[in-house]
Amino acid sequence: MIYSKESGPFALIIFGGSGDLSYQKIYPALYDIAEKGHLPEDYAIIATGRKYTQEEFYNFFEHSLTSDNRHHKHSVENAIFKSLEKHMYFYQGDNTDPNFYTGLSKYLDKLVKEGLPCGNRLFYAGVPQSLYQTVFANIKKSRLNKSPCGWARVVIEKPIGEDEASAKKLDKIITSTFTEDQIFRLDHYLGKETLENVLVFRFKNNIFEPMLNGNNLDHIQITSSEDFSIAKRGKFYNATGALKDVGQNHILQMLAIATMEQPKDDSDEAMIGERIKLVKSLTANPKDIVYGQYAAGVVHGKDAIAYRQEASVPKDSQTDTFFAMKVNVNNERFKNVPVYIRAGKQMAMWLTEISYVFKGKDPYRNVLTIRVQPNEGIAVKLFTKKPGLEIKVEPTYMQFCYKHYFPGEAFDAYEKLVQDVFAGRHTFFNISKEVEAQWRFIDSLSKNRTPTRFYKAGSWGPKEAFALIEKDGRKWLEPYPAFCQI
Ligand code: BG6
Repeated sequence: MIYSKESGPFALIIFGGSGDLSYQKIYPALYDIAEKGHLPEDYAIIATGRKYTQEEFYNFFEHSLTSDNRHHKHSVENAIFKSLEKHMYFYQGDNTDPNFYTGLSKYLDKLVKEGLPCGNRLFYAGVPQSLYQTVFANIKKSRLNKSPCGWARVVIEKPIGEDEASAKKLDKIITSTFTEDQIFRLDHYLGKETLENVLVFRFKNNIFEPMLNGNNLDHIQITSSEDFSIAKRGKFYNATGALKDVGQNHILQMLAIATMEQPKDDSDEAMIGERIKLVKSLTANPKDIVYGQYAAGVVHGKDAIAYRQEASVPKDSQTDTFFAMKVNVNNERFKNVPVYIRAGKQMAMWLTEISYVFKGKDPYRNVLTIRVQPNEGIAVKLFTKKPGLEIKVEPTYMQFCYKHYFPGEAFDAYEKLVQDVFAGRHTFFNISKEVEAQWRFIDSLSKNRTPTRFYKAGSWGPKEAFALIEKDGRKWLEPYPAFCQI
């Protein structure tokens, strides 16, 4: 069943409809859904914000589809664009003003009078969390959270809060307006095909799973490097830093999916329960975390400025744009398998991968790598005899590539997750207990913070990050250059 189509008419109300999240993620996802014919006949997308008139908004929306988006290389078909645009409205106003909500409620009634069948109501909270108190209280006060003829649901985005205590506070705010089954806490990494496939790869193939444990594995590595800067997000980013921007959420999700036990069934409780159990089992020595910040350098041949020179960043900022850490998974299966993680901005290349490194005498260690992006796929490093008279052993790779088996079938995380919201499916969303467990782990590290080290833009991070793994007699893996380059 295509829920976004078959669950009937809806109004999608986007708070922050002129913001970066809408531009980068929500509008492209809506276009993809429309392109596949997965929208019902009657629906309205009401973007709200202060900035735009209706006309300006249409330009913004169109531009969001044609902008240079790493995950969305769109060719925009005019007919699809026009059909979507016909259902899109911009409701201009200041969401800190209570009148905005009474006005919005009237606006929805007006759309119904003009022919939009009354139906489900989905709110997308794409605004800074400092506004949640105002926004949610007003949604409740104006009874917008009650759809007269269908369900009402809300999507909120990571990171929720900045530590466990603030996450709990935010949760109180949200749950006083919406019930748990109405709330969808979105971390888009949970919607990435390549990560969801890790579960299928591990639990539906009997070859590898029995080997993924301390008897066979030496360690695990997770790399999430980006070859771009913080762009115009200085204000948000400087208050957040890499560990909280991606560590508390995307990285911990990847780690959970890579190491959790098989859920006993497909239910939300079982799946989410195993993820939480795993996060709760994590420990790390705060000394085993390196924070980094990019200095000026060269990325892919182009000069790049230092983080401290970026707009809205103080010249003496200590904020981390990189971190590397060693984590222990304290369960039976992985208790002797350390996990080394590194993530950052303005690094040598764009790469997200999880690698299981098997025991063996260096350099003869087999590696199973799950490439989350780009050139998505799975590869196993094998040692092979080079053809010839002598026995010469060379590293080679056996690989599965999405591009090969599923050409043209890219499926964006937001496209999937938005449809999960329509289906009322929580499996790949967080519950508050999961978010709190993630924060508890991160908070335990943040308390005894090591100093921020500097690395050149375009490099693989500060030298201390190399020392972190090398002191254990191990090395960061070199990315395999030909990975799914087909
Ligand atoms: C976002 C972070 O949640 O995820 C960004 O705020 C980061 O800083 C982005 O760049 C990465 O997502 P993706 O899907 O591009 O890997």
